[in-house]
Amino acid sequence: MKIIFLNASSQLGGAERCLIDNIFGIRQELPTAEIFVIITAASGAIVNELQPLDVQVILLPLPDRIARLGDSSFDPQKIFVNLFRLFTPINELLNYWHQLRNTVADINPDLIHSNSFKTHLLGSSLRLPQPIIWHLHDFISDRLLMKRLLHFVKHENIWAIANSKSTKDDWHNIFPRLPIKVIYNVVDIDRFAPDSGLRATIPSDNPDLIKVGLVATYARWKGHDIFLQSIAHLVQHHPQSSAKVRFYIVGGAIYETARSQYSRSELVQLTRDLNIEDWVEFIDFRSDIESIYNSLDIVVHASTKPEPFGRTIVEAMACEKAVIVANAGGAAELFTHERDALGVTPGNPHDLADAIWDLIESPTKRSAIGTAARQTVVERFNRDRLGAELVDIYTQML
Ligand code: GLC
Repeated sequence: MKIIFLNASSQLGGAERCLIDNIFGIRQELPTAEIFVIITAASGAIVNELQPLDVQVILLPLPDRIARLGDSSFDPQKIFVNLFRLFTPINELLNYWHQLRNTVADINPDLIHSNSFKTHLLGSSLRLPQPIIWHLHDFISDRLLMKRLLHFVKHENIWAIANSKSTKDDWHNIFPRLPIKVIYNVVDIDRFAPDSGLRATIPSDNPDLIKVGLVATYARWKGHDIFLQSIAHLVQHHPQSSAKVRFYIVGGAIYETARSQYSRSELVQLTRDLNIEDWVEFIDFRSDIESIYNSLDIVVHASTKPEPFGRTIVEAMACEKAVIVANAGGAAELFTHERDALGVTPGNPHDLADAIWDLIESPTKRSAIGTAARQTVVERFNRDRLGAELVDIYTQML
């Protein structure tokens, strides 16, 4: 079988880590499959990760102005500005479209597996005879521009995989006739595993320090502001905690789309405004992200909008960490409150502060939740199941 994966970013966000898992699964299930990965961006961290998987990587960077377009730069109030933005690069876009179409047509795959909004759009607009899978990692209903554009290119030979029931329901409201199958994301449970030997990744002078971290891209809806406000609340109400707790923001602004992300300096300024700069440290993403989870005692997920899945939640759970989850969307499907994680109201810093404090105060609870969390991941999110699930859907399509 010959498969083309299409992906918009070459950075290692959640969707890209899923892409790597998908290819790993296919390799296990179909060792002789010919796999091509077309990335519509210049080279980045994903390329190294793809190397051991025996795939051919083709980089076709979108022209800059188009790469930066996204729903966050689409303001429905300023319709003419938007149209202008969209149509000025039309020539560049047409040239690019032809280049992509020729590349895909030359490879002549059996099917195309698209992993990002932009590649769903581009891939489906090519109108090639092969079936296409849209792998749905994010909700569509709030993406004003994308929703319209995808309607425009949607055709009969498109199937979809959703990363949660919540994501599936959201897409079904907009595309009632699109066949969508839920396949929950998976993690490599050998890589994401508890390992006390790796704790030194975040060094500290005090071995008893309790480390609380938010691991996320700098997308504004990931709730960095809520996390920082909850820290301010904790520091104010439990000043004695300062000696035993430290907070970490792990990640960066990795995507190209304009306006949708915090910058590091904005977040640093927020810690100053809240008077908590001495409690918070910033750490970049690393490709061995499991060593970060293993350095932390409590992992916080604070998304202010419903999270379609929440890969970092499952990764941290696999490392036996006590995770606090903003309890909405697909993230709410991943755990049982008070058993293998703690759920909190999204967007509520006081609720989050209470949950963090609860776990700071109770090491026994932290470890009981961590143990149950690992077990949940082994049962429900183990990477070993993925290849067969994907091949099953491929076979149905073909
Ligand atoms: C997107 C979603 C996130 C999910 C990831 C992998 O980034 O926003 O919730 O975990 O894709 O599916």
